[in-house]
Amino acid sequence: MYEKLLSPCKIGKLEIRNRTVQEPMGNGFSNADGIATAKDIAFYTRRAAGGVGLVITECMNVQPGQGAGNDKQMTMSVDSVIDSMRDLVAHVHAMGAAIMPELYHSGCQGAAAMDPQGACASPSGISSQLTHEPAREMTIEEIKQLEKDFVAASVRAQKCGFDGIELHCAHGYLLNEFFSPYTNKRTDEYGGSTENRVRIVKNIVEGIRAELGEDFPIVCRVSVDEMLKLNGIDDGIVLEEGIEICKLLESYGVDAIDVSSGIYETMNIAWEPTGYEQGWKSYLAAGVKANVSIPVFCTSVIRDPAFAEKLLQDGVCDFVGSARQFFADPDWTNKAAEERTDEIRKCISCLNCMLTMESPEGSQCSINPCTGSEHIYTSLKADGAGRTVVIVGAGPSGLEAALTLANRGFAPVVIERKSEIGGQLQLANKTPNKDEIDYLIDFYKASFEKLGIEVRLNTVATPELIASFEPYAVIWAAGSVPVVPRSIPGLDSECVLLTPEVLSGKVKLFGKKVCIVGSGMTGIETAHMLAKMGNKVDVYEMVDEVMPGMWFQNIIAMMEHIMPLGVGLHPSRKLIEVGEGFANFEDTHSGEIEKAEFDYLILSLGTRATLPDEAIQAAYPNLIVVGDSEKPGKIAHAVRTGFDAAFALE
Ligand SMILES: Cc1cc2nc3c(=O)[nH]c(=O)nc-3n(C[C@H](O)[C@H](O)[C@H](O)COP(=O)(O)O)c2cc1C
Repeated sequence: MYEKLLSPCKIGKLEIRNRTVQEPMGNGFSNADGIATAKDIAFYTRRAAGGVGLVITECMNVQPGQGAGNDKQMTMSVDSVIDSMRDLVAHVHAMGAAIMPELYHSGCQGAAAMDPQGACASPSGISSQLTHEPAREMTIEEIKQLEKDFVAASVRAQKCGFDGIELHCAHGYLLNEFFSPYTNKRTDEYGGSTENRVRIVKNIVEGIRAELGEDFPIVCRVSVDEMLKLNGIDDGIVLEEGIEICKLLESYGVDAIDVSSGIYETMNIAWEPTGYEQGWKSYLAAGVKANVSIPVFCTSVIRDPAFAEKLLQDGVCDFVGSARQFFADPDWTNKAAEERTDEIRKCISCLNCMLTMESPEGSQCSINPCTGSEHIYTSLKADGAGRTVVIVGAGPSGLEAALTLANRGFAPVVIERKSEIGGQLQLANKTPNKDEIDYLIDFYKASFEKLGIEVRLNTVATPELIASFEPYAVIWAAGSVPVVPRSIPGLDSECVLLTPEVLSGKVKLFGKKVCIVGSGMTGIETAHMLAKMGNKVDVYEMVDEVMPGMWFQNIIAMMEHIMPLGVGLHPSRKLIEVGEGFANFEDTHSGEIEKAEFDYLILSLGTRATLPDEAIQAAYPNLIVVGDSEKPGKIAHAVRTGFDAAFALE
C-alpha cells in the first residue's frame, strides 16, 4: 500500500532501505562531555528498530568548546566521543537503518557565554532578534578555521562509522547566517552574491571530498525560505534564492538536500505549533525538487503514512522527513508496513519536546511515555495472566494505563461516567487549531478495539460496581474539576460559568461581552474560541505575564490568533468580587480597583484533583492514583503516570 514510501532509495551510493528519515531533533540526552550516552543510544536504536530508513542525529558542534547550543548536546568536535559514537552507529546499523550526524555551529543563536570571546561568532556581528545575545563578526582566519573544523568533524564521523553527514545550513545557525542576506553583510569573498554567501559550504564540501573521497554522502539541510516577511521584514532568503542555493550546493557535489524553512525569528514555521496542516510547506521541497537532480527530503508536519506516500507519488520529494512524529512513535514505519496506521501515536505538535529539552530528563513527549526512557523501559512484562484491573476514568491517564495493562496480559475494565472516552481531551479538542488532539483520542479508540479492552461508558464507579469485578487492582484516574474559590464573593451568580460548560457546548455564547479569569492554556484557548464566535472577550490574569507556563512559541501563535480578534489582555489583575454584570479586579501593583462589566464571567483558575471517596480507599488500600487525580497537569503528566502505574504493577 505504501509502495514508494517503503521502497529503497539512494543518497549518492548509499542505499537507504526506505524513504523515511528521522530528522534531527535536539533532545538534551547527552552530557557536558558530548558523548552518545546510553539514553541517546537507546533512543536512536529504538527509532531504527521501528523501521525508519535514515536516522539523522541531533545537531552536534564541530569546534571544541564552541558553537554548541547547550551543554547536553552530543558533539563531533573531539576524539573522546569516538567510542560512544561507534557504539551508537553499531546499534543503529544492527537494526538496519543508516545514520548520519548533523554537524553545525550555533552562530548568533548560541549563547555568548559559551563563546571564548564572549560574543557569538557570526558573519557580520548581527544579533538574533529572538535571543539578543551579543554577536561578533568572524575574521577570515576564523572562517578558514571553522571550515577545517567541519572537515575534521566529518572525518571523525566517518571514523565512527557514520554513513555520511548532514551539514546544518538551516534554522538561522551559523552556516544559514552566511547564506542569508539578512545576517550576512560582508563585503569580502564570503558576502555579497549568493555564490559568495554559500562559499563557506563550498569550501567545506571540497575539504570533505579531499579527505574522504567522492563516495562519502553529504546532505545539506537548508532553510530555503526564511519567511521573514511574516515579521514584516523585507530581507532574507526567499524560495527563489533558496532554490539557487540548492542548485549551487548540487554543483559543489552535495548528495542530497534536506529542505526546511525559518530561523529562530520565524521559529513557528520551522517547528510548528498545533494548527498547521500536514504538508503546508511541501511546496518548498517541490520547488527545490523541480530544480535539482539529487534527492530531496521534505519535512512538513507529516504524520500520516498515506500523506507521505502521496508526496512521494506526486514527485514532491524523494524522502519524507519527520522529527516529532518519530519522537512520538518510533514504530511509524513498521506500523505503515503492517497496515496498522490507526495504531500510530500521531504527534499532536504540542511542543512539549521543546519545552522540556533543557530539563534534567531532557525532552519528553506528551503522548509517548517511553520516549527518552527507552534505556529504562526496555521491555514490558507479559505477566498479567488475565487478572482484572478496574480503571476509573477514561481520560488520557486511564486510557494509557488500560492500554499498557492490556499489553501486559491483564484484563483492564475502564469505567467512565461520561458518554465518550477522552476526558479533558474532549474539551481541549473543541478550541480552534487543536484538531490534533483528536489524533490521540482516535489512537486510543483504535488500540482499545484491537485489544478488546472493555469500556463502560455512562457509568458511575460506585464501590459496589468496582467490587463486582473482584479486581486484582484499582487505578483511580478520575481527573479533576475546576477550582472555584469560595473566598471570592459573588461566584454563585448565574452569569458566572466554568470553562468546561463553555468548551463542551453546554452553554453557547454569541455576541456577548465575556470576561475570562485566568489566562493559562485553558483560559486563553477558551478566549480564542469565544472571540472567533463573535464575542467581545477580555482576559484577566493575576500574575504579571499572560499565559503563564506556556511555551513561548505557543504564546506567539496564540497572540497572532487573538490580537486581530480584539481580545483584551489584563495581567496583574486579581479578582476581588463579582456582582450582577460586573466584577472588581485589584491591580496587584498599585492596589487600585478596576471595574469590568460583562454578560458572562468565565472562571479558568485551574483544577483540583478528584479523589476516591473513603469507602473506595478503605476497600482498596493498594489503589493507585494517576493523572490529574494525582496532580492536575498537562497531557504529558497524565499519560506518563498512567503508563508508570501499569508498567510497575506487580
Ligand atoms: C525539540 C526539537 C528539536 C529540534 N532540533 C533540531 C536539530 O537539532 N536540528 C535540526 O536541523 N532541526 C531540529 N528541529 C527541527 C526538526 O528537525 C523539524 O524540522 C521540525 O520539528 C518540523 O518537523 P516535524 O513536524 O516533523 O517535527 C528540532 C525540532 C524540535 C521540535
